[in-house]
Amino acid sequence: MNQEYISISHLSKKFNKDFVLKDVNAVLPKGEILGFLGPSGAGKTTTIKILTGQLKPTSGEAYVLGIDCTHIDERIYEQIGIVTDVSGVYERMSVYDNLKYFARLLNAPVSGIDPLLKRIGLYEHRKKPAGRLSKGQKQRLILARAVLHRPKVLFLDEPTSGLDPSTALEIHRLLLELKDEGMSIFLTTHNMEEATKLCGRVALLNEGVIVEYGTPEEICLKYNRTKKYRVQLTDGTKHTLMQGDGTVARIADWIEKDQIETLHTCEPTLETVFLEVTGRELQ
Ligand SMILES: Nc1ncnc2c1ncn2[C@@H]1O[C@H](COP(=O)(O)OP(=O)(O)OP(=O)(O)O)[C@@H](O)[C@H]1O
Ligand SMILES: [Mg+2]
Repeated sequence: MNQEYISISHLSKKFNKDFVLKDVNAVLPKGEILGFLGPSGAGKTTTIKILTGQLKPTSGEAYVLGIDCTHIDERIYEQIGIVTDVSGVYERMSVYDNLKYFARLLNAPVSGIDPLLKRIGLYEHRKKPAGRLSKGQKQRLILARAVLHRPKVLFLDEPTSGLDPSTALEIHRLLLELKDEGMSIFLTTHNMEEATKLCGRVALLNEGVIVEYGTPEEICLKYNRTKKYRVQLTDGTKHTLMQGDGTVARIADWIEKDQIETLHTCEPTLETVFLEVTGRELQ
C-alpha cells in the first residue's frame, strides 16, 4: 500500500433525488491533517459516514488504509478512531473505566490510559462519572477514547464545535502532536482559522462540491489577485469591499462624511476565499 491513508475518487452520494456529494476527490497522506471545510449541510458528515462504512456511496470510490469503504468490516476499527457529535460515553462509568472498557474492546494496553489522561488534562477527573463532566471535558474524553489504541487514521467531525477557545486550543495542540507522531487526521470544520492552523491540505466544500482543494497557502495565494478592503465605520458596522470603481467611490464617500473608524487592506483568508467562490459565509 502506498502512503495515501485515505483516497477518495469521483465520490457522489444521492439521498432520494438530491445529490449531497458530487464527484468529490481528495487524498490524505500518512502523517497529515486533511480538512473538509464547509457550511452546515455541505456534506462533511456524509463524507465521514461513507469513509467509515456507515453509508454507501451512490457512485465513485473511497479507500481507507487501502480498504474499499463499501467493504469495511470490524477489523478496521482497530486501525481507525472516530469522533462525531453522536459519539457517546457511558455516563455512569468513571472517566477511567470508560477508557478501560474501550481499551479492552480495541486491544489497547490499559497501561496507556493514565499517560493519555494526563496528556489530555483529565487525570484529576479520572474517578468522576463521565456524566458529570463538563462539555469540554467530555469532548476530550471522547477524543482520548478515539486515540487510545493509536489508530493510523483519526476521523474528527467538528471536534471543537461549541467549545471555549482555551479548550479548543488544547485540542489543537494535541491534534498537532498526534500528527507529528504519524497519525493521519481527517477533520471536518466550519472554522477556517482551525483549518488554516491544523491542515496540510483543505477541501472547501459547498453543497456537495469541492470548490477549492490544496494547501491553505496555495488557495489563499490564488485569490490574492483581488485586493480587498476592510472598513469599520463609526456606527460600528463592518464592511469588506472588493477593489473596483464602486468601492473607491464608497470609501471616498465615507471619508468625506468622516464615518471611517478603521480601514485595512486584507489578504485573503480561507473564509474570504470561500465567500468569493460561493457567495456564502462559512459559519
Ligand atoms: N439520511 C439522510 N437522508 C436524507 N438527507 C440527508 C441524510 N443525511 C444527510 N442528508 C442531507 O445531506 C446534506 C449534507 O448533510 P451533512 O450532514 O453531510 O452536512 P454537514 O456538512 O455535515 O453539515 P453540518 O455542518 O450541519 O454538520 C444535508 O442537506 C442533509 O440534509
Ligand atoms: Mg456535520
